[in-house]
Amino acid sequence: MKNHVLRPLWVALGVVGLVLLLRQFMVPDDFGVHGRNFTYGFHRLSNIEEWRAVPVKYRGKAECGQCHEDEASAAGTSLHRNIQCENCHGPALAHPDSPAALPINRSRELCLRCHARLPYPTSLRGTLKGIDPITHYPEALCSECHNPHKPEVEVS
Ligand code: HEC
Ligand code: HEC
Ligand code: HEC
Ligand code: HEC
Repeated sequence: MKNHVLRPLWVALGVVGLVLLLRQFMVPDDFGVHGRNFTYGFHRLSNIEEWRAVPVKYRGKAECGQCHEDEASAAGTSLHRNIQCENCHGPALAHPDSPAALPINRSRELCLRCHARLPYPTSLRGTLKGIDPITHYPEALCSECHNPHKPEVEVS
């Protein structure tokens, strides 16, 4: 074979060999021991414990209603009934111990995450009632006109 073919061939083989060698040292011992129920066995067993150690931040809305009855009963039957309180008010695992009161986000961006009108004809996201944030009363906060806990009530 000609030299100009052989030289790059050796380089390529060298690279493959180097990768295989480094793999011996760099792949953790518990990689792939879980069998093939994860795609191609590409799974590190200790990753399960790492995720288990991630602290919980949310508590779910059933508990919010024990103290905030008005908001919970308004939201419970509203068009926003499927949205968690903490989706808008932030994680609140230790509230009201810490923090005693949650900071309230009244920004338009809070609502526009879901209500900016997007042209997704084949997705359910496109069917969510949306507005054009540039023309829909840009000077005011959404909650000045819409009740976030009962958005279908006639706007003030
Ligand atoms: C054990 C009772 C209790 C529970 C459970 C509770 N809260 Fe509270 N919450 C309070 C108290 C007390 C305050 C403080 C009121 C104050 O200082 O004006 C407060 C304040 C707030 C405020 C700020 C109100 C304001 O006017 O500034 C928000 C928002 C709030 N809570 C949301 C939630 C959410 C969301 C949950 C569920 C994850 C929740 N709370 C669970 C008792 C509770
Ligand atoms: C769609 C977003 C959204 C959801 C969902 C939501 N809130 Fe609120 N919440 C707000 C906004 C915005 C305000 C501020 C309203 C204002 O300025 O008039 C607020 C205000 C509050 C306040 C202060 C008192 C008041 O009414 O102004 C409490 C307490 C509260 N929310 C509790 C809850 C609880 C409990 C739930 C779940 C049952 C909940 N919220 C769900 C957006 C939300
Ligand atoms: C997590 C997504 C989400 C967020 C955040 C959210 N909404 Fe909604 N909103 C919804 C869904 C879902 C509906 C119900 C749509 C339906 O059933 O047609 C809805 C319904 C509404 C409606 C009623 C539209 C109608 O059919 O008359 C208004 C108004 C509204 N939301 C205003 C707000 C305001 C104001 C905020 C911010 C305080 C907000 N939304 C935040 C998801 C969201
Ligand atoms: C000055 C009052 C006012 C403010 C501020 C306002 N809206 Fe509205 N909104 C209305 C009125 C009135 C309607 C009824 C339909 C219309 O006139 O567009 C409405 C309708 C809607 C609808 C239903 C649209 C539909 O297709 O039926 C949604 C969703 C909505 N608003 C979300 C928002 C969001 C999100 C914000 C903040 C970014 C906001 N609005 C700010 C007054 C307001």
